[in-house]
Amino acid sequence: MVDTPGRIPEDFIQSLLSRVDIVEVINAAVPLRKAGTNYVACCPFHNEKTPSFSVNKNKQFYHCFGCGVSGDAIQFLIEHNSLSFVEAVELLAGQLGMQMPQSGQSEPSADHNLIYNILAEATAFFEQQLRQQTLAKQAVQYLKDRGLTGITAKAFRLGFAPPGWDNLLTSIAKDPKQKELGVKAGLFVNREGNKFYDRFRNRIIFPIRNRRGKVIGFGGRIIGSTSDEPKYLNSPETPVFSKSHELYGYYEARQAIARSNSVLVVEGYMDVVSLVQAGITNVVATLGTACTEQHVQYLFKTVPEIIFCFDGDAAGKKAAWRSLEICLSLLDDQHRVKFLILRDNEDPDSYVRKYGAAALQVEMKQAASLPDFLFTTMAKQVDLDHIDGRVQFATQIKQYLAKLPEGILKTMLFDRLAQLVNVDPALFHGKKPRAMQRRNEFSQSIISKALVSPAIRALALLITYRELAADLATDIFSLVSIDIFGCNLFCAVAEILKASPTITDAEIKALLPEALRENFVVMDLRGIAHIVPKQGVREEFLGAIEILRRRKKELVMDDLLLKAKQNVLTDADKLLLQQMLQEKG
Ligand code: CTP
Ligand code: MN
Repeated sequence: MVDTPGRIPEDFIQSLLSRVDIVEVINAAVPLRKAGTNYVACCPFHNEKTPSFSVNKNKQFYHCFGCGVSGDAIQFLIEHNSLSFVEAVELLAGQLGMQMPQSGQSEPSADHNLIYNILAEATAFFEQQLRQQTLAKQAVQYLKDRGLTGITAKAFRLGFAPPGWDNLLTSIAKDPKQKELGVKAGLFVNREGNKFYDRFRNRIIFPIRNRRGKVIGFGGRIIGSTSDEPKYLNSPETPVFSKSHELYGYYEARQAIARSNSVLVVEGYMDVVSLVQAGITNVVATLGTACTEQHVQYLFKTVPEIIFCFDGDAAGKKAAWRSLEICLSLLDDQHRVKFLILRDNEDPDSYVRKYGAAALQVEMKQAASLPDFLFTTMAKQVDLDHIDGRVQFATQIKQYLAKLPEGILKTMLFDRLAQLVNVDPALFHGKKPRAMQRRNEFSQSIISKALVSPAIRALALLITYRELAADLATDIFSLVSIDIFGCNLFCAVAEILKASPTITDAEIKALLPEALRENFVVMDLRGIAHIVPKQGVREEFLGAIEILRRRKKELVMDDLLLKAKQNVLTDADKLLLQQMLQEKG
């Protein structure tokens, strides 16, 4: 999402970012006001009267809830001051008194704005060619045959590069300076010193935009399926375009991504365009390269969940595994990564055209989490019934898990590995084996589960602070049977306390259904509750319940989507589904 990186070592950038204060950097350009833990202002990147631009000092990150821009201090300078990546880094390094690494000197001034301008002219040219050229008939027909509407083509600013060597050249580059600029922008190819020709010829053009909507490069597809030429031709790396940092469709999807808290990453231009048209709008594509750490890092700054979707062929599976390896070191407890491998060699585009968007949404819901994908893929390669296979399995998985950042997920996965290969988990944690514990299983794990289960957090707080019962809305009893650890127990206790808030712990226990009674371990619950500072109790409590409510909604939605797939929706179901999809955006 930045231009010309790669020449400055990543650790220099990281150490720069760890020293810089984004609040100071932005405040110098846009006066900020403190609001709660964040700082706010009217967004400098779009017109607005009430501030939706927010700067988070802890995360060292800005985000506009209005137009969707976001980034770190470097990104802010790139976008706001129209600097190149290297220039922004130099500026900050200068302010912090840090010495730039040798290789990081900026190139003699490539003027980014001029490059953006010529790319904008080219985009307009290609767009207009698609509409007017009689030669574009074939291209238009091809897009129609693939099911694309004019509205979609317009939204993505699709275009057409006519056949011939100099259509664009003669139209937008009259003088030598423009020609040179066009070469820098990746539009023209320079031959024998002063001869130039169009890079994109007789192709459908997919403009690639940066997150501010500026075109930074193009993908060009041949029309039809037979040609000696490669199917896609992309802009080369230029001062404003780096494939390993950019994602096709991000600009168009940014609001949908923010709304849905999840992003679908696919492989192709057509996949993005076709899915958006079908109503799955939180989608981006890597640009014919494998997914990189920069891609994942960037997406993780805006959403907690990435769903990778790959074709079901061998290449797709290989790409999925590469993405898994990239994600491991970035997968902290705040983020999730899922994998969806489409069956029958479909790609996302052909899948939605064949089965519909609702079916793909069901698949997305059921996508394997990264750990599940890791464990099942590796398990297929060994024989877990024999000791040799288990050793091999454990050795390999251990290497992958070791790359995860420290956290609950890592600990839990090592435990899961231990269980699978039937050894003491302490073996993987480098600790002495635990002494036998007397408490039941629920109790043993309750503390660690409380850290992840909102139901246990809510239960612990409710037991300890009985006045919270007054905050319980009646709808929480409908949360029973959600697939979240401890939810049934929480609902049962909540119901009892709502009816009689002054009841004793022993009386609650007596009133609980047999099956839940044994799990009601008051001492542990109080221990958990006391981890929460007093003034945060109510907020934590309501927050935990909100997570349960959201999960309930998700389950209802899953159910509806499944019915949609089986074509058994009632009218009431349809209405509800429509409402829920709208809410989700
Ligand atoms: N790609 C590329 N160069 C190629 C082939 C592919 O850059 N010669 C990139 C493009 O970004 C393309 C993506 O890889 O969108 C996925 O390629 P592929 O699955 O082959 O194409 P589709 O996107 O499915 O294209 P289409 O449906 O138009 O055939
Ligand atoms: Mn395709």
